[in-house]
Amino acid sequence: YHNTPLAFAIFGGTGDLTKRKLIPALFSLVKEKRISDEISIVLVGRRNKDVIEFKEELLEFVKAYSRHKVKKDDWEAFAEKINYCRFDFEDEERGYNDLAKILENCHDRIFYLAVAPGLFEIIIKNLKKYNLIERDTGFQRIMIEKPFGFSLESAGKLNAAITKIIPEKKIFRVDHYLGKEMIQNILSIRFGNSIFEPLWNHHYIDNIQIISTETIGVENRGGYYDSTGVVKDMLQNHILQMLALIAMEPPVDLEPESIRNEKVKVLKSLRLFDKESAQKNIVRGQYGRGIIGGVEVPAYREEERVSENSNTDTFIALKINVDNFRWAGVPFYVKTGKRLDKKTTRIIVQFKKLPGINFYKNLNNGKPNLLVIKIQPEEGVFFQINAKSPGIDLIEPVKADYCHSCRADYNSPEAYEQIILEAIRNNSSIFTRWDELECSWKFEKSISESFEGIEPNFPNYAAGSKGPVEAAELLERDGRIWWDTF
Ligand code: BG6
Repeated sequence: YHNTPLAFAIFGGTGDLTKRKLIPALFSLVKEKRISDEISIVLVGRRNKDVIEFKEELLEFVKAYSRHKVKKDDWEAFAEKINYCRFDFEDEERGYNDLAKILENCHDRIFYLAVAPGLFEIIIKNLKKYNLIERDTGFQRIMIEKPFGFSLESAGKLNAAITKIIPEKKIFRVDHYLGKEMIQNILSIRFGNSIFEPLWNHHYIDNIQIISTETIGVENRGGYYDSTGVVKDMLQNHILQMLALIAMEPPVDLEPESIRNEKVKVLKSLRLFDKESAQKNIVRGQYGRGIIGGVEVPAYREEERVSENSNTDTFIALKINVDNFRWAGVPFYVKTGKRLDKKTTRIIVQFKKLPGINFYKNLNNGKPNLLVIKIQPEEGVFFQINAKSPGIDLIEPVKADYCHSCRADYNSPEAYEQIILEAIRNNSSIFTRWDELECSWKFEKSISESFEGIEPNFPNYAAGSKGPVEAAELLERDGRIWWDTF
């Protein structure tokens, strides 16, 4: 428990992430007394904001996004801790000196960079130049929101530049999926159960699916998204992190470096794509108009700040190979995208079928054993096994369904609460290390290069649908189906 005064300064303090995620998360952490009450939250932004009005605006976001009911007293006490530091990048000297003044009495400092990746380096440089970090007392840490760079090359340059300024141990590269309760549970389920671990390999597992679908479109982030697309927005980070956790070898202990060492080995084993393999194993998509929740929604190309001829992908389905001993021949199918039929994130492990046993006539039609890790919205574990139908000699799949989030003692923090808490605790195991990102960017590069010069036929799926039909065919071709209907 951290009980000395703490300063939490957010660059990008008026942005979307601050309003929807970071402030509600900090509010919960303070309310539940999981961090020091002596926290000073400094929102750093370029806009000219009236502080009182800004706090009112923040209150609306906390009401909408916090998992707590907001009581007036709690809010007022919390709002007192918030400062706004208007930062004029034209006059950085004054900006950083103002910030230094606000932080004067607080030596434990976290700087959260929720800005475009092009600004990370210059901000860190100036934090050092104006003596806000690398101080003799307290700790100073930097949390860096994704995307960490735009490409393999730019991420590499960024990393080289910032690690020259501050040591690696002070850098916390955020991937908020690693703060999700059930993603943290993956290692416990895998390594805490003798019934799974011996089967966790190519001898017994037929395929693994990672499905992460959203119903929202690009909302007000059209400008960002149009130059990013689904591969950089979801696959390169969140999806590959889930894949690494599901596929990694047991770490020697739970130290951050031990876990990261194993994750990076998986990411190094990802088979890169070339034009030919991409053509065969990747389905790209972009949404057209459609209906979601009874409401008609515009096509991607009609969204604000999106080019009307945009070829940015908002959907991807692909078959990934992990070329190592454990996973030889086991496909990892991934599907993710925006404006699909439902919001869900799940990892499905499909086990191989047994040969038929002749006294059950229908065993060959039986369903495979499935272990489903339900990440969101419902959290839990679902296990499909075959058992006898009552009164007749036929088997049928039955389900053992554990709902983690339904427990009476359940009080799971939001991902961003967990991320902030672990940075305060100096637990870097749920943050990404550079070599993990480097491998992920290499993988991303092999995909984006294989798309070069190819004119996709977009839009190719209706908003609210299951994505392009070719995504289903990708599995049908291998005699498999997506486990996305239960
Ligand atoms: C973010 C992406 O990292 O993750 C968004 O930039 C996406 O585009 C979001 O919507 C999904 O996060 P979650 O926690 O809602 O699944």
